[in-house]
Amino acid sequence: MDKVDEYFDVALSLVKSAGNLISEHVNGCKVFEKKSCDIDLVTEIDKKVEETLIGGLSKKFPTHKFIGEESVSGGAKCELTDAPTWIIDPVDGTLNFIHGFPLCCISVGLAINKECVAGIIYNPNLGQLFTAKKGQGAFLNGRQIHVSQVTELRNALVAFEAGTSRDEERCRIVFENYKLVVNNGHGLRSLGSAALNMAMVAMGGADANFEFGIHAWDIAAGDILVREAGGVCIDPAGGPLDLLSRRVLCTSTAELAQELSKTLVQFYPERD
Ligand code: IPD
Ligand code: CA
Repeated sequence: MDKVDEYFDVALSLVKSAGNLISEHVNGCKVFEKKSCDIDLVTEIDKKVEETLIGGLSKKFPTHKFIGEESVSGGAKCELTDAPTWIIDPVDGTLNFIHGFPLCCISVGLAINKECVAGIIYNPNLGQLFTAKKGQGAFLNGRQIHVSQVTELRNALVAFEAGTSRDEERCRIVFENYKLVVNNGHGLRSLGSAALNMAMVAMGGADANFEFGIHAWDIAAGDILVREAGGVCIDPAGGPLDLLSRRVLCTSTAELAQELSKTLVQFYPERD
């Protein structure tokens, strides 16, 4: 068995059992704390899911490294080396989770040599399990998925978020890009979870997704999922994706990526 397959199987079983912690609160989780601002929130469940995943993975693979959202919030270094590194968002869509809006997920990506080679995105509330491994395709609940064929913004359904910061300059650019999509695209959707937005592109439900201000843990699993589904995942200005740059653009086709990278108003947040 390939090493990545072995790593993936261990992660998948941990993700499935940690999913129960989320689905127990399908109607919402009203106890939470603020992090960087009053719309960047965390619950005890976020912390428990992350502890479960990092605890289980580090026991099995003691040399592996971790970038976990709540560990980084607690002061851990956000460092990506060539070593196998698990990039974990224990609850992506925490605001949805708190409100009982059932779109949230566990997102786990595995990077080796700084490249994502496996990813798991699991929404236990809706029973959606997205998986991908390098060179082996992308799957939803075991069935292979593919991106759409859409090549132009005028035909594209675009998933796009306001994000979880009220930074004035970032918000101004969000509104500019909002106008661009509303005026020129087929439509706009905000699921409230970066990983689920990317999963929609992977399965062809949406044609593009971009965001400025996300973190490595929001996009690592989505990156490999979209690419294995036949799509493109790059920096929003064109060029390769940089996992720590806090910028992402993923699309069904290279043509659509090129159009968006030329027309989006760009924003460069502080790096992870
Ligand atoms: C957030 C969600 C949201 C995105 C934010 C993320 P969190 O992650 O993915 O959709 O717009 O940028 O921070 O805080 O729920 O893990
Ligand atoms: Ca989170």
